[in-house]
Amino acid sequence: MKTFLIYGANGYTGELITRFAAEQNLKPVLAGRNAGKIEALARQHDLDFRVFSLEETGKLDAALEETEFVLHCAGPFSLTSKLMVEACLRNQRHYLDITGEITVFETLARLDAKAKDAGIMIMPGVGFDVVPSDCLAKYLKGKLPSATDLSLAFYGMGKISHGTQATMTMNVGRGGAVRRNGEITPVPAAYKTREIDFGEVQKTGVTIPWGDVSTAFYSTGIPNIEVYTVLPRANLKMLKLSRYLGWLLATKPVQSYLQKQIPAGGPSDEERAKGKTYLWGDASDESGNKVEARLQTVEGYTLTALTALRIAGKILDGNFCAGFQTPAKCYGADLILEIEGTSREDVK
Ligand SMILES: NC(=O)c1ccc[n+]([C@@H]2O[C@H](COP(=O)([O-])OP(=O)(O)OC[C@H]3O[C@@H](n4cnc5c(N)ncnc54)[C@H](OP(=O)(O)O)[C@@H]3O)[C@@H](O)[C@H]2O)c1
Repeated sequence: MKTFLIYGANGYTGELITRFAAEQNLKPVLAGRNAGKIEALARQHDLDFRVFSLEETGKLDAALEETEFVLHCAGPFSLTSKLMVEACLRNQRHYLDITGEITVFETLARLDAKAKDAGIMIMPGVGFDVVPSDCLAKYLKGKLPSATDLSLAFYGMGKISHGTQATMTMNVGRGGAVRRNGEITPVPAAYKTREIDFGEVQKTGVTIPWGDVSTAFYSTGIPNIEVYTVLPRANLKMLKLSRYLGWLLATKPVQSYLQKQIPAGGPSDEERAKGKTYLWGDASDESGNKVEARLQTVEGYTLTALTALRIAGKILDGNFCAGFQTPAKCYGADLILEIEGTSREDVK
């Protein structure tokens, strides 16, 4: 039976993906560096497991050798993706991850030619960031092929997990980013705000350096891209403050202190079940034409598990695109509509 590796399976999101995979009768091989936790999780779901750190090259190669691809869930990916993707290229195995980090997308995009030579797909961002927004971007580009400007927004992630907080904390003080004339351009944190009509709710959005600043360019070719989210008033204040205190927040002792304060885990099953996510986007061109659309879907971590496994299922069926890929570039704008509980509408 064809199978795949989930590395970082004992993290909050890895464990959720493992649970959903078992419910879908998939048989991934679980892996990670914490022997006790990986073994316990594998026994709970009656799955095979391997224990190794990313530096244990022989064990990493052996685990990839016996599977079709890896779904890499051990983040922050700016610290873990290099060793994993190098192993995938070496062993000619596809690479999936659930990153949202712009630097990771950009680094992996530069491996496009190597991935094509190896006949493998490198597809980072198969979770909440970036599947729904990437599909929305591709949908808008389909409606307005001449688009030069793209804005995307999301709202409603609810409670966030340990790894997401750890990744965000690591990047605090690095400012924001947008894409201008095809180039990723640094901007101050909380650079712009705008009112966004998500349909059921209207909110003030603020720019953040979300993964689509990188990926939507590869999916659509649109050269100017901004991504907005909705933050509680206090968080918005903190983000603006980080413009001035960023240097301090990025220092080693402060980072070490902040990282230690982050609680383990993430939203409970009940919290996830109650959650909902709204997305919105518009695209415009130089002649003043404009298209606008919205998506509604399930809670962010539930969505991450569902989209990651949907893509995993496609690869197991032999459906993949060699090279560096974004989800919508390979599987199309309607990929997100394959997830139960998702709907899309045009804004007239
Ligand atoms: N794109 C999205 O929509 C999305 C959604 C969910 C999560 N994420 C991202 O996914 C990552 C994981 O989030 P989470 O909340 O699941 O994290 P978590 O609960 O903190 O778990 C992190 C996992 O990664 C492992 N890990 C971390 N650093 C490692 C390293 N250097 N070598 C080997 N294993 C390592 C941990 O292993 P140990 O237990 O041994 O430390 C653990 O298994 C974060 O970067 C988060 O931002 C993204």
